[in-house]
Amino acid sequence: MKTVLSGMRATSRLHLGNYFGAAANWLRMQEEYNCYFFVADLHALTTDHDPSALNHHAKTIFAHYLGLGLNPEKCTLYIQSDVPEIAELYLVLNMFANKGELEKTASFKEKARKKGQSLNAGLLTYPVLMAADILIHRADFVPVGKDQEQHLEMTRTFGNRFNHVYKTDLFPEPQAFAYSESLVKIFALDGSGQKMSKSDHNTNNTIFLTDSDDEIRKKLKKAKTDKGPQEKNSPFTQEIKGLFELMTGVSSPETLQAFMADYANCAIRYGDFKAQLATDVIDFIAPKREEILSWQSDEVRMKRIAQLGADKARESARKTLNAMRDVMGMHYFKD
Ligand code: TRP
Repeated sequence: MKTVLSGMRATSRLHLGNYFGAAANWLRMQEEYNCYFFVADLHALTTDHDPSALNHHAKTIFAHYLGLGLNPEKCTLYIQSDVPEIAELYLVLNMFANKGELEKTASFKEKARKKGQSLNAGLLTYPVLMAADILIHRADFVPVGKDQEQHLEMTRTFGNRFNHVYKTDLFPEPQAFAYSESLVKIFALDGSGQKMSKSDHNTNNTIFLTDSDDEIRKKLKKAKTDKGPQEKNSPFTQEIKGLFELMTGVSSPETLQAFMADYANCAIRYGDFKAQLATDVIDFIAPKREEILSWQSDEVRMKRIAQLGADKARESARKTLNAMRDVMGMHYFKD
């Protein structure tokens, strides 16, 4: 069976974009593959050093995984730092990463551009840690968004260099993976055409999976629209396209068709459209929110699952490290 692996940084909470862009895919994959899903708390350390925030965020993301339906009996769920083997592989892979190529990574250059951001070595080697996450379980598929594809490419590079130097095929080449038909694109509610994002400074642009009904209604009421279609069969403006995309994700096909037809006939009333959308978003999110919050308030249950997940992940990780140490000549003494 093929191995799938993915993770999210331990920052903030999840929003509708994370759901449709990632979690929805993961839920399907856990039925078909040998899956590892983890909370990347060490990656969060590249930018944040507030202990209580880290602690809170890691548990929050873990509760989201469980609340959304990732099932510890079907997949391995863990917190990255609970698997210290990853750190050992990270150290070794650093020997196969060039300073120059790390400096040229898009995500690093973007951080470097932002003034005031301290550029620590952890930030520079962020892709190496991500490669360690993936290669530690010798994963075949990695469900990630476009913004992570360069990191995945670097993962293949580091793995291949290792394989080449030690004349081994220890590390397979992981591929990006998504169920293409299920990709609903979720845009920020300000009509900017940007994807919905955790780090958007205006939280009105983002619908979080733990938002209350009221917050959802308010955010959608404020969502940007335009003057309305002036001619029949007008193309969508960015604002309206974003709202229809969202409707594709949460509403019934009949509802979607009806509003599309109204739009094409210039009969659409944005007030009604947004009210319907709010109702459907709430129906979509409410049961998920209740599950997430219930997990979040049950640390005993989460602890048990995180422990179990770490045990399973470490077992797989130790196999990889054993094989790695073997080819590297790091088994020094016979038993
Ligand atoms: N870099 C990813 C992100 O920011 C998170 C991540 C860390 C990850 N390690 C990973 C994703 C391994 C997939 C596989 O979204």
